[in-house]
Amino acid sequence: MARRMKDHYFKLAKKEGYRSRASYKLKQINSRFRIIKRGDTVVDLGASPGGWSQVSLELSGGRVVAVDIAPMKPIEGVEFFKGDITSATTVKKLKEHVKNADVVLCDAAPNLSGRWSYDHARSIELAESALRIARVLLKPGGNFVVKVFQGDMLNDYLNNVRESFRYVKLHAPRASRKESAEIYVISKKFRGLTPWKSIF
Ligand SMILES: C[S@@+](CC[C@H](N)C(=O)[O-])C[C@H]1O[C@@H](n2cnc3c(N)ncnc32)[C@H](O)[C@@H]1O
Repeated sequence: MARRMKDHYFKLAKKEGYRSRASYKLKQINSRFRIIKRGDTVVDLGASPGGWSQVSLELSGGRVVAVDIAPMKPIEGVEFFKGDITSATTVKKLKEHVKNADVVLCDAAPNLSGRWSYDHARSIELAESALRIARVLLKPGGNFVVKVFQGDMLNDYLNNVRESFRYVKLHAPRASRKESAEIYVISKKFRGLTPWKSIF
């Protein structure tokens, strides 16, 4: 079943000109939660090969800034930065280039070792970095979507997210169901930066 779903979205992506079957996860998330609106500035972390950036551009028609540790073939209308989202240099660069984002997305995933707890911890580390970036870049009221692998650190992570967003929900889009431990944290209505909390 999972294999069939994967093949289905893989073929559909080829047919419809998307760079990855992951594109459908963002489409499904957006039709359900209305994360991206026309004119939004979107930051796409862990963007390569670019499926989410393509969909973000389609949905917003606005500015899309993509970041990945790996290279990405150019997409017209998408600004790409090569960088590690866990590094302070990348955060600084993004802060200089994107003043007020409406949406921060993160579909970054660690290279899988096959050891569940290790992969879970690495995924939470990436998600923490994405949250830090979201806190720096988002306008109050902005939205944030991040992928995590499920495990025992997820609850603490969610509590951390709840400190910054009024609406937080876990969601598995149809295009990723039954496939893996991955799940998306959907967060809306950024509360704005808490002045007494340090970012790093
Ligand atoms: C599942 S892919 C993203 C697919 C993408 N959303 C799409 O639709 O094409 C995960 C990406 O996360 C990136 N990644 C992993 N660790 C990263 C890090 N520390 N900083 C930036 N990107 C990272 C990987 O290079 C990979 O391209």
